[in-house]
Amino acid sequence: MFAPLQNDTFLRACLRQATDYTPVWLMRQAGRYLPEYRATRERAGSFMGLATNVDHATEITLQPLARYPLDAAIVFSDILTVPDAMGLGLSFVPGEGPAFAHPVRNEAAVTRLEVPDLDKLRYVFDAVTSVRKALNGRVPLIGFAGSPWTLACYMVEGAGSDDYRLVKTMLYARPDLMHRMLAVNADAVAAYLNAQIDAGAQAVMIFDSWGGVLADGAFQTFSLAYTARVLGQLKREHGGQRIPRIVFTKGGALWLDEMGRLDCEVLGLDWTASLARARASVGGAAGGPGKALQGNLDPNVLFAQPAQIRAEVARVLDSFGAPHVDRSPDPATGLPVAGPTHIFNLGHGISQHTPPEHVAVLVDAVHAHSRQLRRQGAARPA
Ligand code: CP3
Repeated sequence: MFAPLQNDTFLRACLRQATDYTPVWLMRQAGRYLPEYRATRERAGSFMGLATNVDHATEITLQPLARYPLDAAIVFSDILTVPDAMGLGLSFVPGEGPAFAHPVRNEAAVTRLEVPDLDKLRYVFDAVTSVRKALNGRVPLIGFAGSPWTLACYMVEGAGSDDYRLVKTMLYARPDLMHRMLAVNADAVAAYLNAQIDAGAQAVMIFDSWGGVLADGAFQTFSLAYTARVLGQLKREHGGQRIPRIVFTKGGALWLDEMGRLDCEVLGLDWTASLARARASVGGAAGGPGKALQGNLDPNVLFAQPAQIRAEVARVLDSFGAPHVDRSPDPATGLPVAGPTHIFNLGHGISQHTPPEHVAVLVDAVHAHSRQLRRQGAARPA
């Protein structure tokens, strides 16, 4: 049904298989920093006008790929489509971010929550299939969703928040209500991601953008446990291909050991994490189990000049260290032997103020420096 994949570097790295260079894509790579995004958004009138129109969503997903040799595409949508389908009434006020008309703030509202009819999210699955066709096998397509906890933050606060006062009040005052909301969110997110996989997503990512605002203990109970509940329900394969699962927790480096026990292939890290330390604790050894690591350049590096961007990119790649290069088959599985791998990304979404030409520098620097690292690694005796 879809064209064969020409560049599988990203998928191989997700599965901890050796690649010729370190693959790179950027969280929020399609968005306001691109003038062509702003032009299409102008025509569509609103963010949801873009996201719910298959042709617009396809065009916008491909915009960053037309400019840069990125190694993956991520479908243009938003994490808040799921609570919107639950009836919360999503809108994006320009300059103010997302808002819900009906936030979930009391027992009655929590009791009313249900896993939404997936037909209400058909526009997302149609966009996935349309993008996958339009990509024509160029790079793999990533589907995504918010974590149950991150969705709950927006559902209770009704918008973005500085202090998470309302959602944390519910967590501490009525943990029973919070657990009920998180259980519904987890089952909704799992069904939503599985439908994206059926529609053509070749990897899926869970954005736990606000996991890091939780206290130690609360993170494990209210974020990690429900991310695990999502992962437990996800399809591992589709059409004979493995579907890697990425979990990104902003501020999650404190809990790496626990995240290392999640049933997923890749952990995404923000810029506060040391890739060297993450590799040592959860990256695994050659031939053994472990997680591929994704991240973690501070998005603000992109405001510096090209030479400084190149230096910071090299610092991140060097921090991960010599990548695994052994391509021999694993005698147990016949698949290429697994080892530590890195997928280059930012530590959080790209800023809308980023100069687009600086992204070109970043992508080129990742590809060039990571090839050089492999040549050096190969020259060095093992
Ligand atoms: O990465 C991509 O290119 C795919 C598209 C994507 C969007 N949102 C498009 C978008 C993805 C992966 C998201 C995820 C998302 N959405 C997250 C998790 C990632 C993260 O950054 O932590 C979160 C927390 C949201 C919620 C959200 N959506 C906010 C807070 C905002 C407004 C402020 C902002 O950061 O842009 C949005 C709107 C939004 N989602 C825009 C885009 C391109 C901007 C909308 C506009 O044109 O005004």
